[in-house]
Amino acid sequence: MNQRKILVTSALPYANGGIHLGHLMEAIQTDIWVRLQKMRGHDCVYVCADDAHGTAIMLSAEKQGISPEQLIDAVNAEHQKDYAGFLIEFDNFHSTHSEENRQLSESIYLALDANGHINRRRIKQLFDPEKNLFLADRYITGTCPKCNADDQYGDNCEVCGSTYGASELINPRSSISGATPVEKESEHFFFALPLFRDMLKKWTRSGTLHEAVSNKLDEWLDTELQEWDISRDAPYFGFEIPGEKDKFFYVWLDAPIGYMASFKNFCERSDYNFDDYWRPGQDTELYHFIGKDIVNFHTLFWPAMLESTGYRKPNAVFVHGFLTVDGTKMSKSRGTFINARTYLDHLNPEYLRYFLAAKISGGIDDIDLNLEDFAQRVNSDLVGKVVNIASRCAGFIGKGFDGYLSDEMDNASLLSEIQAAKESVAELFESREYGKAIRIIMALADKANQYINEKQPWVIAKTDKQSVELQAICSTGINAFRLLICYLKPVLPSMAQRSEEFLAIEPLQWNDIDVLLTSHKINKFKPLMTRVEADKVQAMIDATQKAYDKQQSTNASAEKKSEAVEDTSGLEPEIEFDDFAKIDLRVAKIVSAEHVDGADKLLKLDLNLGLDKLGKPLNRTVFSGIKSAYQPEDLVGMFTVVVANLKPRKMKFGLSEGMILAAGPGGKEIWLLEPHSGAEAGMRIT
Ligand code: 2FM
Ligand code: ZN
Repeated sequence: MNQRKILVTSALPYANGGIHLGHLMEAIQTDIWVRLQKMRGHDCVYVCADDAHGTAIMLSAEKQGISPEQLIDAVNAEHQKDYAGFLIEFDNFHSTHSEENRQLSESIYLALDANGHINRRRIKQLFDPEKNLFLADRYITGTCPKCNADDQYGDNCEVCGSTYGASELINPRSSISGATPVEKESEHFFFALPLFRDMLKKWTRSGTLHEAVSNKLDEWLDTELQEWDISRDAPYFGFEIPGEKDKFFYVWLDAPIGYMASFKNFCERSDYNFDDYWRPGQDTELYHFIGKDIVNFHTLFWPAMLESTGYRKPNAVFVHGFLTVDGTKMSKSRGTFINARTYLDHLNPEYLRYFLAAKISGGIDDIDLNLEDFAQRVNSDLVGKVVNIASRCAGFIGKGFDGYLSDEMDNASLLSEIQAAKESVAELFESREYGKAIRIIMALADKANQYINEKQPWVIAKTDKQSVELQAICSTGINAFRLLICYLKPVLPSMAQRSEEFLAIEPLQWNDIDVLLTSHKINKFKPLMTRVEADKVQAMIDATQKAYDKQQSTNASAEKKSEAVEDTSGLEPEIEFDDFAKIDLRVAKIVSAEHVDGADKLLKLDLNLGLDKLGKPLNRTVFSGIKSAYQPEDLVGMFTVVVANLKPRKMKFGLSEGMILAAGPGGKEIWLLEPHSGAEAGMRIT
């Protein structure tokens, strides 16, 4: 056999949060692939690490009153435990905050610079004058310059969808300190990415990427390829740029180098040789598994950096979509942003491994974890089909034949049909079409069950517990089970291990498919997998929700505390009387109210503002974020104060012709005017 030498990575999780089902979808996908390679006798190494640098980690440590190093060490241990809980078998799990990574990052940067691929320029950025740090867009909020929606992030507006630069925001605020940011200039270092356009155009079309991904990349490659800013100013948690003061590598520069660093660390305690896997012209293979949100880092910046500095480029980057739960983005408030630990507290990791495998297609479509489907699928396939084969046959072998399987099979053709799927199942796993592989395996399981149904060994056993035929039938069943478990082993390593104990065999390898188990003594059957229980799934959701609610109330009380210390009046900045006089406030009656498709907070209100000058009803449509407090039907007939002369705003869902005023802390407590308050449509507020 031609033994391949393969190095595989999955994306490095950030060290400022726990592992959740989104991370696991990728890790499980990678782990299945790696396990298949190993079972087939290839030399496959799987490395990962924590992505430990950046502003978020620095701030998060500060908030917890510990050093970034303390934070990332604690998180690293937790991450490793969580991955292990899902049977993810890394050959090495390291950290980007490591000596190996520092050395590699420095030497790669120096090589880029020596090759003339680093340019320096002064740029202006928003700066937090209280915290003394430059602010990335996501740390700046303000009013959208296009639609005036409040509380929008520094680069795009979630209400009207427009994109802009952070300095265009009206009333920008640092979300770290609340201070008004100022513009400040500093020198930055840029990687000359556009010089690599031709190489990248070729590389992205050389079988390295799924076609949909290369198509997307073409848009960048043809028009938007820009120099990449790889430096950040102090304070920053990362590696200082050699020869510079108070300049650090941007986290995304040293993150992919973390793949190399983890492997280098692995080489230091094994026989593997770093250069065999990272220098060009070797007979080794390199693959990265990543999500579609980080494609540009892995298929533009990274190969260009490798090319410039004389390293090899990956053979392929396997890109997957996002994980949704019950059809929508994972959401903390709905209890579907599920952490690895919470899952493990309630459910068996192999349920998830199996369910995801059944859904993975090798493409970039999102994968949905529908929780009902999840329970149903696992129960019917694994418990109802696969385990069932063994449990229906094992007892008779134990009782009638002292655990011995027969020499001859009753149905050799069934078994050779299962064996014949060996290559196609392997190819489907290899091309990450796990769902298709699982369908083939389950169709074979159906056939095996059908065979047992037809032969009815329990009927034969009633008359003769030791009949030759009974032994041959049940031995056929047990052999079918063994073959199916061998196919499923990359997905279900622990169930496979329990099955190997039951079958009293050595750990299964892929080529074991070619042989059958004859005249062999097996052990007593023990349940290999239990059913998914619906109440455990619910308990996991409840626990997720509860943790979220607790977090919310801790945040709220922390906010209150800090307000009590700093706040004097709690009021907005003063305005002039003239500003106030411009506002036309009226009482409006709510004529109708309805839900807005796709909007979490908004209701669409039709308001009557009395009569216009010609005596006709003066009506306005307004979108208002009061859905948390009111059902549309309860609003009809109520009154509210409205800013009647607010310039109409085009929102994502339609035109909003004003703004209603309501009071209250939010959530369920937002107060409008009751019908009996004496209000009347059209009244002016003076
Ligand atoms: O997006 C992320 O979660 C990053 N921490 C992934 C880094 S992958 C690699 F480049 F390090
Ligand atoms: Zn907007």
